[in-house]
Amino acid sequence: MINYSQLIEKALEAREHAYVPYSGLRVGAALLCSDGEVFAGVNVENVSFGATNCAERTAVFKAISEGKREFSAIAVVSDMDEMIYPCGICRQVLAEFKIPVVIVGDEKGNYRVHRTEELIPCAFTEFETRK
Ligand code: THU
Repeated sequence: MINYSQLIEKALEAREHAYVPYSGLRVGAALLCSDGEVFAGVNVENVSFGATNCAERTAVFKAISEGKREFSAIAVVSDMDEMIYPCGICRQVLAEFKIPVVIVGDEKGNYRVHRTEELIPCAFTEFETRK
């Protein structure tokens, strides 16, 4: 099983593939599944800005598409000097799939570990369907 600093390393490797013709900000993510498999993701921008997909969601959607449902942590890095934090939409997606830990890192290998609950308190998670 890989450790958090190795997960940051995977996110940094992924960042190379970011598609960012509009913002120029490359973001990389690496999602660790409970079985040890890692799914990388990058931000994929679009000329219609709203169609842009963040790196975190790319990684999560890749893993979900491959049948994964149990996760340990997600690491995220960018080109910025300061650590990047997931946007609100990505936090909601992390809550949906109960990804418990978010590791934000930088190029020097520094990282901080957060509980997802801390980043999205009182998340909207489940509801009773009205029949
Ligand atoms: N972005 C991410 O990929 N993840 C984040 O956590 C925040 C922002 C992307 C979206 C867009 O491509 C670029 O960064 C600038 O907002």
